[in-house]
Amino acid sequence: VPAAALAAAVAAAMSVFVTRRIPAEGLRVLSQASGCRVQQWDSEEPVPRAELLAGVAGTRGLLCLLTDRIDREVLDAAGPGLKVISTLSVGFDHLALDEIKKRGIRVGYTPDVLTDATAELSVALLLSAARRLPEAAEQVKRGGWTTWKPEWMCGYGLSDSTVGIIGLGRIGQAVARRLKPFGVRKFLYTGSGPKPEYAAEFGAEFVPLARLAEESDFVVVTCALTPATQGMCNKDFFGRMKKTSVFVNTSRGAVVNQEDLYQALAHGQIAAAGLDVTTPEPLPTDHPLLTLKNCVILPHIGSATYATRSTMAVLAAKNLLAGLRGEPMPHELKL
Ligand code: NDP
Ligand code: DGY
Repeated sequence: VPAAALAAAVAAAMSVFVTRRIPAEGLRVLSQASGCRVQQWDSEEPVPRAELLAGVAGTRGLLCLLTDRIDREVLDAAGPGLKVISTLSVGFDHLALDEIKKRGIRVGYTPDVLTDATAELSVALLLSAARRLPEAAEQVKRGGWTTWKPEWMCGYGLSDSTVGIIGLGRIGQAVARRLKPFGVRKFLYTGSGPKPEYAAEFGAEFVPLARLAEESDFVVVTCALTPATQGMCNKDFFGRMKKTSVFVNTSRGAVVNQEDLYQALAHGQIAAAGLDVTTPEPLPTDHPLLTLKNCVILPHIGSATYATRSTMAVLAAKNLLAGLRGEPMPHELKL
């Protein structure tokens, strides 16, 4: 085989499309890999659909983000050469896994490395909503702080509380581990079945969703978005919660029926909510939830520490390269 043809074949075998500007450490792993030819949508903003479809054409590897919907159309546009998809996220609800599996494409993702950052943010959000931090800080700026008042800006504390975790997975456990020292009396959790090996550390009790809603002072949602969890936190769920309870979601927005949450917050059915994730993202600035004082909304920053995002980018790049080389990935999603 002529050297030029061989070089072209190697380059084609290692051609990748990266759908966004990512931390430099991750891109470096790809650009320094021998034979790897990187094409990138080098922007802070998501790749437009047409550019995505054009960008994936003929590539072997795709490094994507949770904002990219990777469905049949994208897979068709990529063509049969696409061997690996590596997502810069632990969540994979944006990937059409059935279709991906059918085509024999391998998938890499980024579990574990973002667990601590996301659990930390979940705790920060819980405390912000429960102790009304944004509302209180706003009062200072607007002159609402006239003096120390015994019954002003009171909220709810974790001491002696019951905390319900929906999805006691990696992040759910890390949240419980962080909340325990605040004096939580009892942990409840729900999921597809009891997880005694995880629950033992917290003495957590496995309960049905309805009981978790009824008995928890704080509900933290840390499950994956699946057909079973979509819209799971709805009117019935909020209706069962205590008037004094606080709801926190750091999983995916679609787990919550937002209209039902709005009604529950607006009518004092629950005390407060903290959301890191919404539907859609970004949440329109005129969305009714943003008019509520008892709802703290963050722009999906669970894993947003510099170190975590850098580690995620390196892991996503390594997953992609391993997949292209036919080697075991550091973190492969079992399809
Ligand atoms: P894990 O896979 O470790 O945990 C997911 C959990 O979801 C499992 O414990 C699983 O429980 C639970 N689950 C699945 N189905 C149900 C159900 N029907 N009812 C209740 N629970 C259910 O994932 P991670 O902890 O690593 O991540 C969880 C999710 O957090 C991700 O999928 C992602 O969407 C989100 N995330 C958000 C971030 C942010 O920035 N806000 C950052 C990182 C992740 P079981 O095993 O019993 O089925
Ligand atoms: C994920 O990884 O799924 C988060 O939503 C972002 O880190």
